[in-house]
Amino acid sequence: MSEPTQPVHTTHTVGRTRVLTGAKPTSDLHVGNYFGAIRPAIEASHNPSNEVILMCVDWHGLTDRSKILEPGKYTAAVLATYLTMGFSLENNMIILQSEIPEIPEIAWYLSCVSAVGLLERAHAYKDALSSGKEPTAGLFNYPILMASDIVTFDAQVVPVGKDQSQHLEYASDMVRLFNNAVGRPVLFEPKPLIQSTPLLIGVDGERKMSKSYGNHVPLFAPKKDIEKRIKEIKTDSKGLDDPKDPETCAVFQILKSFGSAEAIEYMEQRLRTGTGYGYGHAKKDLIDEHERVFGSKRELYEHYINNPRELAQKLEPGHTRARQIAATVRQRVRDALNLGIL
Ligand code: TRP
Repeated sequence: MSEPTQPVHTTHTVGRTRVLTGAKPTSDLHVGNYFGAIRPAIEASHNPSNEVILMCVDWHGLTDRSKILEPGKYTAAVLATYLTMGFSLENNMIILQSEIPEIPEIAWYLSCVSAVGLLERAHAYKDALSSGKEPTAGLFNYPILMASDIVTFDAQVVPVGKDQSQHLEYASDMVRLFNNAVGRPVLFEPKPLIQSTPLLIGVDGERKMSKSYGNHVPLFAPKKDIEKRIKEIKTDSKGLDDPKDPETCAVFQILKSFGSAEAIEYMEQRLRTGTGYGYGHAKKDLIDEHERVFGSKRELYEHYINNPRELAQKLEPGHTRARQIAATVRQRVRDALNLGIL
């Protein structure tokens, strides 16, 4: 008889797949984040065959000494964004990583089966070294903490961007090393789901949208700031009546990342035909659609930011359930290691 490859006692809910993903609270969110990570997680939360755990991974945001105060500053903004934009808390959870003490405990167990050489080959660590930065031990251990996020909740599917595929391979390696070391399947091996969302271009029309390049369109900034940002979008010099190519038009690409199907189709048509529709018109339409999708929710967003207690209350049932799952997995791991007196 062959050995079972997955733990017999899991914490899963019958008929649901546990989907787990993480977002670092290291800045106010922008349209690029919405498109790449927020919208997919919100959509997944509305699929009844999923049980989604969305983690705000504040511990992961601490690994750079000079930015150690940032996660605490941005956590509420990240949590409020997910709630405001419609993440469904019914049967799903949004949790703050630093509220779950089992994660670093299980990270320790994983670190005791992981070779230093594995961590030395991690891209983020190697990049820090080669750019002459002095990596912290926190950065070095980042992949272990991430693997622990995943195994502490018996995650089955982990949707991430391409840049995270190495981290997920490491998580699988650590699960196998651990299960082999204790001689039975205790930790659940997650399946990566590598998302192929194309990168969203910034208002400079050149580089990927990123807060660090200053080329981003924010989600909930005051309306006049959004307008100013959208008016800055670089376009080519085609005139009012010339046909224009939506594929190379940053205004259209940004609209596509959050707009309704009708708004997208309308702009695409008008650009292609050209007549009487210049880039100024397109920008005005983009501003209107941004106002419709995000501006109409600005008040709710600000309400959460100004009432963190209410935000915490909304998340509490999820935290309670997440703590139960984490406690069960922790016990399973401690039993497998024969830890404890009794
Ligand atoms: N490392 C991920 C990133 O930078 C964030 C992350 C932390 C994560 N823990 C996770 C993603 C667990 C998925 C699952 O994007």
